Amino acid sequence: MTGYDVCADGDLGAVHYLVRQGFGMAGDVFERYRALFGTAALRVLRRDGDISACAAVFDVDQWFGGRPVPARGVACVTVDPIARGTGTGSALVRAMLEEARGAGRALSILYPATRPLYARAGYGPAGVRIEWSAPPAALAGPHSVARPTRQVPPDLGALAALRRTGPALANGMLERSEALWALRLDPLGEGTADLFLLPGADGPGGYAAVLPPRERRLLVPDQCVAGRRAVAEALAFLAGYRAQVDRVCWCGGPDDPLALLAHDSGVVPVQYEEWMLRVVDVERALTCRGYPSRASESLVLDVTDPLLPANHGRFRLTPAAGRGRVERLPSQGAADVALHIAALAPLYTGHRSPSALRAVGLVEGSDDAIMRAEQLFAGPRPWMADQF
Ligand SMILES: CC(C)(COP(=O)(O)OP(=O)(O)OC[C@H]1O[C@@H](n2cnc3c(N)ncnc32)[C@H](O)[C@@H]1OP(=O)(O)O)[C@@H](O)C(=O)NCCC(=O)NCCS
Repeated sequence: MTGYDVCADGDLGAVHYLVRQGFGMAGDVFERYRALFGTAALRVLRRDGDISACAAVFDVDQWFGGRPVPARGVACVTVDPIARGTGTGSALVRAMLEEARGAGRALSILYPATRPLYARAGYGPAGVRIEWSAPPAALAGPHSVARPTRQVPPDLGALAALRRTGPALANGMLERSEALWALRLDPLGEGTADLFLLPGADGPGGYAAVLPPRERRLLVPDQCVAGRRAVAEALAFLAGYRAQVDRVCWCGGPDDPLALLAHDSGVVPVQYEEWMLRVVDVERALTCRGYPSRASESLVLDVTDPLLPANHGRFRLTPAAGRGRVERLPSQGAADVALHIAALAPLYTGHRSPSALRAVGLVEGSDDAIMRAEQLFAGPRPWMADQF
């Protein structure tokens, strides 16, 4: 007998044993996450009465095409070491996906420690998290002077507004809850980063969250800058640490503004992680995201989803003025592109182009259909700084 449940207080000992064995998670770290997200974020899978697997989930909106899409984040997926390799992990992932769909979430997102478990459940690689590193002197010239202002106390509403404006709004960005902000600004659980607002051409152009220098390294756990002036200010500000540190490290995307406008060579990506996404509700996911306003031609997608039958079939997506209208079509008939639900993930987020996906056989479609898909899903390459 298998049962999937929200964790109860009496299950916490068993759940901590699982995450200790799965991730080496110490008790104080477990308690920190529980205080931030609540016991109700934990899920357990029982087999014959015993808890044999657990996970944590949280709801979050994720931005695609300039619109927020309801997503569910998944973390801490762990199976008891004495029960691995017998389908327990797959059963847990499936139960979580069914629950997410029932709760009205369109997407499920996670960082995989191992991919096959999620790939067979319909997740696909969908975006990146890049850690950039540079000697501070590479960021700006020796005479650059920055004029940031320190924000005390942190005003999360103002920071969120900066993240949502203009060119800073990237595909994949999370609309953070207080818990996600706390994790980002204090990733080590040792103290919150100091926050600095960077002047732009017209008011604040972004911010940088900076942890105290340690062992000649400066960690910038969060930053958001857009526009030439704000990026130059950020570079000059971070270069000002050159007497104290040998490296400055920050999280960014593939087209990171700090890397693009750095003064000298030496900026390198030192960590590259791909997160995975699963479309749990095709109609909702396609309806909620935004599209380039110039896209005007419709596309019929034929989606194969062996796990969630409501996603299986044909959908016509018609863009107009940056929004998409989605109609479910009868299952028989022609389609423009045919793809498995796992291949829809990188197409949907713009992580991989339709032509790149077709080149490796993950998407089928004529040249004309692929060109229409290219127009629909074009946009900044997806990334997120958040880690969970
Ligand atoms: C990864 C993990 C959750 C898989 O759970 P499981 O119950 O063993 O998985 P299943 O039996 O349902 O098998 C599903 C797939 O997981 C993979 N898998 C199986 N055992 C695994 C193991 N010990 N380690 C890693 N992956 C494993 C296999 O690819 C398998 O698919 P396949 O049989 O078609 O090759 C489990 O091994 C675990 O808890 N590992 C430690 C914690 C961890 O890494 N969690 C992932 C966090 S993102």
